[in-house]
Formats: sequence, C-alpha cells, structure tokens
Amino acid sequence: MTRGMRGVLLLLLLIGGAVLIGVGVLAANNQNAAALPEAAKEGEMSVEEAIAARRSVRQFTDAVPAERVIAQLCWAAQGVTDPRRGYRAAPSAGATYPLELYVVTAEGVNRYVPAEHAFVPHLEGDLRGRLRAAALGQPFVESAPVVFVFAADVQRTAGRYGERAKRYVNMEVGHAAQNLLLQAEALGLAGVPVGAFRDEQVDELLELPERQQTLYLVPIGTPPAN
Ligand SMILES: Cc1cc2nc3c(=O)[nH]c(=O)nc-3n(C[C@H](O)[C@H](O)[C@H](O)COP(=O)(O)O)c2cc1C
Repeated sequence: MTRGMRGVLLLLLLIGGAVLIGVGVLAANNQNAAALPEAAKEGEMSVEEAIAARRSVRQFTDAVPAERVIAQLCWAAQGVTDPRRGYRAAPSAGATYPLELYVVTAEGVNRYVPAEHAFVPHLEGDLRGRLRAAALGQPFVESAPVVFVFAADVQRTAGRYGERAKRYVNMEVGHAAQNLLLQAEALGLAGVPVGAFRDEQVDELLELPERQQTLYLVPIGTPPAN
C-alpha cells in the first residue's frame, strides 16, 4: 500500500469514527425521547381564515391544551414534513436547521425533537413565574398554560454562511413562530410573540447548552370568549 493510499484510509477511518461518535451523542441526547401523538395534516380552518383572524392575545382561560394539541403546535413550528430529506415545516437557510424548540408548562420543560416528533424531558417544575420575571414582568408569560421558547445554535448556520448566519437565523425564527401562531388560531387557541426579555436570564433559567441562545417566546392558550 502506498503512503498516499494509507493517508486516504486513515482519513476515512477518522471520518467514520467521528460520524459514529456524532450519532452516539445524538442518540444519548435523545435517549429519553417520548413519542408525541401524530400531527394532523388537515384541519377545520383554511390558511386564509387563520391569517385573517390571528391577533396577539395576552389573556387566557385556565384551560390547558391536551398533549395532542401541543404536539400539533410543535409540528407546525418545526415538525418534519419531508422525512426523506429531513426538511421541516418552516424554511431554513441551506436546510441547516439552527432552531431548538422548548415547551414550558406547569409540569416542566420539554425539548421537541423534530426527527422523532417526540419530547425529551429537559427540566422539571413550573418555571413560568421566573420566565415572566425574565420577560420584564409581562404577566401573560406566566398565565399562559404553555410557552414555546425558540432558541438557536447559530453555529449550525454559520458553518455555511459565516457572518450572515445571524440574519438568517433571525429570519428563520419568524417563519417558525408564524407557523405556530397560525396553527394555534386554526385550533381555536391564540398567543403573542414576545421579543422583550433579558437574553442571558432566559438562557440560564432554561439551562440551555452553551451554543444556544433564546430568540423568541410565544405564550399560547385559550382566548377568553368575546
Ligand atoms: C418581533 C416582535 C416582538 C414582539 N414582542 C412583544 C412583547 O415582548 N410583548 C408583547 O406584548 N407583544 C410583543 N409583540 C407583539 C406585537 O405587540 C403585536 O404583534 C402588535 O401589537 C400587532 O398586533 P397583532 O399581533 O394582533 O397583529 C411582538 C411582535 C413582534 C413581531
């Protein structure tokens, strides 16, 4: 075997090893994943009706959305809609998928795993009061039965787009949040996108991995009857 061939072989072994480690880490991260109810692909409200009716709502009844409903909302925001390629409900620059979706309820915090349409338990306990404090005291961040938190690992997109990645990721979270809000509307729910919060305080509260930063909070619940 020539020296060149040995070099190529070594390189292939290294790449193979790195891939195996990567898969192992991913599998370990998602070890406790609990499958969610399958998302519906049709509903009772047209997209035009949902767009026309959507309003930011900051008051909610005590009703807690069922797991099936929360799963549907996660799917609309980040669910996989093309399993062959892993493409998701919201567009992503270069399909680099930098977003992570955390779901905060009275029970705790779950992380949504799009590829498995599953939840991985992230934190226990009701963090909504402290989330409200980090969101400058906005009361609906605590009173909403569920708060969707979009975080991002910009590095995933920066690997391909460099400096421009920050801009792309901010655009992307808007797509995902709008999907979420329109799906909420179509299910008889409502919410409000919240951009006013202390970044580090939310990142710390949610114990995000170092590479992730919170970008957007979306409290959602049942609007009071008019
Ligand atoms: C980027 C962004 C950040 C926002 N942040 C907040 C917020 O922190 N608190 C809040 O009550 N509303 C927030 N809103 C909601 C706006 O106040 C709301 O969209 C606007 O008043 C128009 O009303 P509509 O959503 O019913 O059309 C935000 C909206 C956007 C797009």
